[in-house]
Amino acid sequence: MQSRFPRSSRYDIQWMIDTAMGPNVLWLAEWLSEAVELKPEMRVLDLGCGMAASSIFLAKEFGVQVLAADLWIRPADNQKRIEAAGLSHLITPMHVEAHAMPFAENSFDAIVSFDAYHYFGTDDLYVGYVTKFLKPGGVLGIVVPGVAHELNGEVPEHARPFWDWEFCSFHSAGWWRRHWEKTGLVTVERSDWLEEGWTFWRDWNLICAEACDGERRDGRLSEAKMLEIDNGRTFGFVRTIARKS
Ligand SMILES: C[S@@+](CC[C@H](N)C(=O)[O-])C[C@H]1O[C@@H](n2cnc3c(N)ncnc32)[C@H](O)[C@@H]1O
Repeated sequence: MQSRFPRSSRYDIQWMIDTAMGPNVLWLAEWLSEAVELKPEMRVLDLGCGMAASSIFLAKEFGVQVLAADLWIRPADNQKRIEAAGLSHLITPMHVEAHAMPFAENSFDAIVSFDAYHYFGTDDLYVGYVTKFLKPGGVLGIVVPGVAHELNGEVPEHARPFWDWEFCSFHSAGWWRRHWEKTGLVTVERSDWLEEGWTFWRDWNLICAEACDGERRDGRLSEAKMLEIDNGRTFGFVRTIARKS
């Protein structure tokens, strides 16, 4: 892990566990940042930022200005984390519903989203909405849990005992590419699959399971078992990056 995600490996593990809402978001943000140029003068929207760990990572690593937008997590709670990280001058937390964004058009140089875009961005028209807030030439970059190939409603036999209906929002790299390209509004620069991504997902669940108890622990262990049995045949992470035309 240390060698695959060198920037993330410098962060406190307990802080990462305390801010976790799913897969390790620092690893997802670091993977995206390998393919998106981020520079200090850029204004970045972190859409569905959860507990703002990715916003803190992007501001600290690249000096970008981040609008940390989320629906479920209170901005006041994120503000405390941002202040503790000494990054109030770069990050602004906001309560935002992804379909009703309170921003002017052409506001951002980049819109990024980690383990969140599949909650609100799978309908055909959403990319047209969200890219209104990007400057021309701006970048839309997401990392989401995904599948190696489209399941088309068929749950793999080995995944059935663990299946959650919300997994129907997991798509392949090819699906995300077509989903955005068909609008003609963006140029997809890449849509790819994280090599051995399932092992990072599994290992992070095991680390978090150690640190919690009750239902949360059971959920983490069950997901880790599913990923272990699946062995990379189905589940992993997709990264898709596009530029506004
Ligand atoms: C699984 S959590 C991931 C959070 C964070 N990105 C991370 O990886 O730790 C999904 C996040 O998506 C956000 N979300 C879901 N639907 C949303 C919507 N319609 N508008 C804005 N945010 C939304 C939730 O508030 C939640 O924090």
